[in-house]
Amino acid sequence: MRQSSLVVVANRLPIDDSVAPDGACEWRRSPGGLVSALHPLLRHTPATWVGWAGGTGPAPDLPDIDGVRMHSVPLSGDDLRDHYEGFANATLWPIYHDAVEQPQHHRRWWDAYLRVNQRFAEATAQVAEPGAVVWVQDYHLQLVPGLLRTLRPDLRIGFFLHVPFPPPELFMQLPRRAELLRGMLGADLVGFQRAQAAHNFAQLVTKVLGLPATDRRIGIDDRVVRIGAFPVSIDTVEMAALADRPDVADRARRLRHDLGSPEQVILSVDRMDYTKGIEQRLKAYSELLAGGHVKVRDTVLVQVAVPSRERVSQYQILRDRVEREVGRINGEFGRVGEPAIHYLTQPFDRAELAALYRVADVMAVTPLRDGMNLVAKEYVAARVDDTGALLLSEFAGAAAELPQAYLVNPHDLEGLKQGLLAAVRADPADVRERMRSMRAYLHEHDIRAWARSYLSTLDQSGSMLAHLGG
Ligand code: ADP
Ligand code: F6P
Repeated sequence: MRQSSLVVVANRLPIDDSVAPDGACEWRRSPGGLVSALHPLLRHTPATWVGWAGGTGPAPDLPDIDGVRMHSVPLSGDDLRDHYEGFANATLWPIYHDAVEQPQHHRRWWDAYLRVNQRFAEATAQVAEPGAVVWVQDYHLQLVPGLLRTLRPDLRIGFFLHVPFPPPELFMQLPRRAELLRGMLGADLVGFQRAQAAHNFAQLVTKVLGLPATDRRIGIDDRVVRIGAFPVSIDTVEMAALADRPDVADRARRLRHDLGSPEQVILSVDRMDYTKGIEQRLKAYSELLAGGHVKVRDTVLVQVAVPSRERVSQYQILRDRVEREVGRINGEFGRVGEPAIHYLTQPFDRAELAALYRVADVMAVTPLRDGMNLVAKEYVAARVDDTGALLLSEFAGAAAELPQAYLVNPHDLEGLKQGLLAAVRADPADVRERMRSMRAYLHEHDIRAWARSYLSTLDQSGSMLAHLGG
């Protein structure tokens, strides 16, 4: 077994098996923010990525991708149902996102969560060289740090949560709250997107486990676990370079033409998830159309909503409702060849996404709750001419870093309508000034700055930093 000095452990590998139209298995980039953040960072780094390759059955043997070793962990059909779709995405996910949908509890889901976390910990123990740095990612694997420390006390273990960490009132609902906290405390450093999340964690550790904790340090056994906020980011230079490519600029011009050359294009790009506020946004847009505040001929909405977690019932219900609403709005307000909403559920390659960002005069990112939201940061990075208004939810982690966005409360329908209108009608000089400072911020606070800040706190010898690509 080949071993590495840096091991990243995440539920997903950066590639996912999917079925091509002809029925053949094909590999493509996995969806979601975690892969978008880590993939450019690890490229050409002598690291191993431990994760699930999508699908069920035996773990496939995968080639290295961009110089990174892929070590796949298998999930059975039962694991997929009870660990991924169950405990991770129907218990933890809603609790961590303000319970905007009802969290579900089933005892067998916990058994699967423990079993799969144990499998990930064992796989990681095999591929980590003595004294290696192991960086465990996200809520699917909260028990891995504790399990791994038992198997391999020689390792330096980090844990990073990409999603929000909820206030104590919500977390206390979890029947296995003590085990989840203890699992995370197996790490030497527990990182969150926001300082409030670290504060929530410290409070819970004292309340549930009776341990001494501040927002920076927790004492457990004879160790100190450090905690803190490390807001994740994107490869800003890469997105800007992509958006600046002549073929992408041409594609953006073509898209605008195909959209009917409207005065304003509003764009939203989300996974089809109830946390993203898609229904609320559609309602706001539809009321603006109904009130005559915007006209389909002048203003179009492009909603990209790539299906996600499709076997989880709350996601199926959401998709049905969104599609019914898009149909209703187009039926009511569209004309032949002029739909009010251009609705797309396909995954796009990075160049097509960059062209969409370039064509959008307004980017509406209005989740009800989001750990960070990298789409908002990608949009800013892609606006190489400093134009474009970002309408951003106060409840996205990104809002703490991008206060120059047009901020809205997506739970307030009137506020959301006013925010959309303000962004559509904004003074170009104001838009430019805001965009310029957001772009400058993201050039400094990019994905490498995130990794540097996290890994230098975790691995104070600094040896790991030398490996990360420049
Ligand atoms: P989450 O992690 O909840 O999915 P983020 O906004 O943080 O949300 O990250 C989503 C990532 O997925 C972004 O990098 C975005 O570019 C990508 N993405 C979203 N929709 C699509 C799509 N239709 N095709 C390809 N990539 C997409
Ligand atoms: O950001 C939260 C997250 O669960 C990430 O772990 C992942 O990148 C993304 O959402 C997509 O979710 P999934 O892996 O369930 O498709």
